[in-house]
Amino acid sequence: MPSLFDPLQLGAITAPNRIFMAPMTRARGTRDHVPTEIMVDYYRARADAGLILTEAVGISREGLGWPYATGLWTPEQIAGWRKITDAVHDAGGRIMVQLWHMGRAVHSSFLGGQPPVSASATTAPGHAHTYDGRQPYDEAAPLRLDEIPRILGDFHHSARNAIEAGFDGAQIHAANGYLIDQFLRDSANHRDDAYGGSIPNRLRLLREATVAVADAIGADRTGVRLSPNGETQGVRDSDPLPLFTAALEMLSGLGIGHVELREPPVHGSFGVGETAPLADQLRPHFNGPLLLNSDFDAAQAQAALDAGTGDAVTFGRPFISNPDFVHRVRDGTPLAPGDVATWFTQGSEGYTDYPAATVQAAG
Ligand SMILES: Cc1cc2nc3c(=O)[nH]c(=O)nc-3n(C[C@H](O)[C@H](O)[C@H](O)COP(=O)(O)O)c2cc1C
Repeated sequence: MPSLFDPLQLGAITAPNRIFMAPMTRARGTRDHVPTEIMVDYYRARADAGLILTEAVGISREGLGWPYATGLWTPEQIAGWRKITDAVHDAGGRIMVQLWHMGRAVHSSFLGGQPPVSASATTAPGHAHTYDGRQPYDEAAPLRLDEIPRILGDFHHSARNAIEAGFDGAQIHAANGYLIDQFLRDSANHRDDAYGGSIPNRLRLLREATVAVADAIGADRTGVRLSPNGETQGVRDSDPLPLFTAALEMLSGLGIGHVELREPPVHGSFGVGETAPLADQLRPHFNGPLLLNSDFDAAQAQAALDAGTGDAVTFGRPFISNPDFVHRVRDGTPLAPGDVATWFTQGSEGYTDYPAATVQAAG
């Protein structure tokens, strides 16, 4: 059985170890959604990860509704990300961008007062993050059939921009209650056309977006993130196993470089699984590298590799407060605790001021 420190081939990308950094929004961009200099330092310091999956990055103005998150639809955004990918590569790392359309989770204040788009006329529960604090979500406008090509075009275009920005590849964010997940799962998809109802119909947007990205950058540089086992932002499915089994079989057929499953345990500390993770049951249905996430420590991650449930594990919160997380796992160095209060604040506090253990020891 592989060790966490064995390499893994993900399509065109060779990861030197199987301790990956999970995608995490940190809200350190500009108000115009352009990456900043402190983001260069943040990602460079984590280049020892077998693979960095970036924070979610907007594919279009329409798709991004998170204050100070970044995008990949303007030349300034591409240039900003280029500095980050260069720094990670110079430090010996690999970095894939997570491509994001938030669908109904975009507040209308980001859209000049227009409603967000989704599969159906539904409203996310709770309150959106906006530049004026938390605001109730708006009811979404269902995407018309003649609008779907625009969404696919934005996935295609932003994936091309990702390569121009120096990324090793792109992961499609099809998890956590955002646009593609709003089409996948039946709590948010009430359509009766070719994009709703049956499982093949609800998979259609995921398949078309994956084809659009793969056409732009190669299937071997394309990945997909799914969240099968629980409700997120009001999006859930009444019968997830057949849906996600079919999703993995469809994605196998497209020959993509990885699938990541974000599945919190039933008593998870970041999100709650409605069932135990389905990864064991889904594993046989995907023929490429399977990445596992949520609430893993290093011992549990190695056990998942030993059991053959997955091929690598992505870690989120541990990487926030431990830039040298891979070294700490290797050496058994205790982990530094993080601070939820600085997850989404601007500036370097709680972002670039967590030292590596070696620096701490020297200091
Ligand atoms: C601050 C923060 C921001 C996050 N942003 C994203 C995101 O942009 N995209 C995404 O798919 N998941 C996001 N997540 C979820 C993480 O990728 C991951 O699923 C979660 O942290 C659980 O993994 P962990 O137990 O290793 O922390 C975020 C999590 C945190 C803590």
